[in-house]
Amino acid sequence: MTNAAIAIDTGDLPFGGGMLALVRPALDLLEPGGVLAVLTRQSHAIDELGTWCKVERHELLEATADQGGATRILLRKGSFGAPRGAIEDNLDLKPHGGRIEAADMLAAVPFAPSADPGTGFAPRGARVEPGGPVYPCTINDLAHAAPPDVAQLYDQAVSAQWNADTDIEWARIKPLPRPLQRALGQVFTFLAENELSALYVPSRFIARLHPHYVETAQFLATQMADEARHIDVFLKRARVGGGGVGISHATTSASLHSLLTLEDFTEAAFLLSVLGEGTFLDLLRYIEMHAPDEVTADIVRRARADETRHVHFGMSHVKHALSHDHTMYARLEAAVRKRSATLAGAGGVPYAVQDSLTILAAGGTDPAAVAKGHSAFRELMEVMHENRVKRLLNAGFSPAQAQTLSDLHTPNFM
Ligand SMILES: [Fe+2]
Ligand SMILES: [Fe+2]
Repeated sequence: MTNAAIAIDTGDLPFGGGMLALVRPALDLLEPGGVLAVLTRQSHAIDELGTWCKVERHELLEATADQGGATRILLRKGSFGAPRGAIEDNLDLKPHGGRIEAADMLAAVPFAPSADPGTGFAPRGARVEPGGPVYPCTINDLAHAAPPDVAQLYDQAVSAQWNADTDIEWARIKPLPRPLQRALGQVFTFLAENELSALYVPSRFIARLHPHYVETAQFLATQMADEARHIDVFLKRARVGGGGVGISHATTSASLHSLLTLEDFTEAAFLLSVLGEGTFLDLLRYIEMHAPDEVTADIVRRARADETRHVHFGMSHVKHALSHDHTMYARLEAAVRKRSATLAGAGGVPYAVQDSLTILAAGGTDPAAVAKGHSAFRELMEVMHENRVKRLLNAGFSPAQAQTLSDLHTPNFM
């Protein structure tokens, strides 16, 4: 940290017997040009240290006999190969309430506005020795890599994890009338298929994200763990009680394919999390409201709590990028339009999804109840649209843009 001299006493340590284990860390504390005084009682050490300095491109300034048979050697630190960055010598992270959160770590070692792909997997704050390879990161700037609340969201995600095996009271599920059972199987088939896209899409961006912004990778890892659990719990629910997995529609497949092929992290966050998972919040609430039993309601309530966090992260990411880069508005709008054009022939909400959501809300196949179920489904479409518009307005889009973009959103919901 300083060019001021540092002094160390290596006592009787031979040069090849541990002296360097004291000399090298002391030199690491100095900036290039800084001076280190080494006190030694080993008479051979002067020559050996001199040779070592030449190899390492440090400079041996002088060696003088001290009182009591010791020698005092002055070394000037060279600049070649010296690690870049300040050493964290005084960083003393303090727990509060016995805890240390990721947010505390980020506050202690904040993000830089941009990161060098040459620092690879070096933890943020490490002094990086030059000469390492350049990593294939393409998301290297704070504006696109990490929203300000990413560490808090990661902390929340870690403490909110649940278990699809032991936290669900599977034994309490009772058999349902067959049409309702099949509708439920179809609903959960559709949910699981969409969850698969929510697992795969973020995974594509972790390897492109600069490790300096590791909290984003950590958050995405929790998101992927959430989606893995949702796939697990939804497929279990589809199969418990004999409903079974239903139809996978071409519309769903085309819609999710158009997410998987996105190349831009922020566009993917916008389409997947803000628009897609945002719309799924309303879908999950609908399923909870019309769930045939408390266990099913509990499953979608838990999934919805996780999705709320994913939408929050997506909103934070997109708003942060928009605040730094105004051209993003046009880019995000273009991404929605392009996707809509790709899906132009896909038709409306996949019929099996529409029918099963109607039967679910009807609670069976009684025609009068189905009429109500149909109304409930129409209402769901309106609620999804209204809430998408609210999210788009919150992100800073104009009312006209928000209406248009919501209308252009995929009939598959995600
Ligand atoms: Fe999910
Ligand atoms: Fe999600």
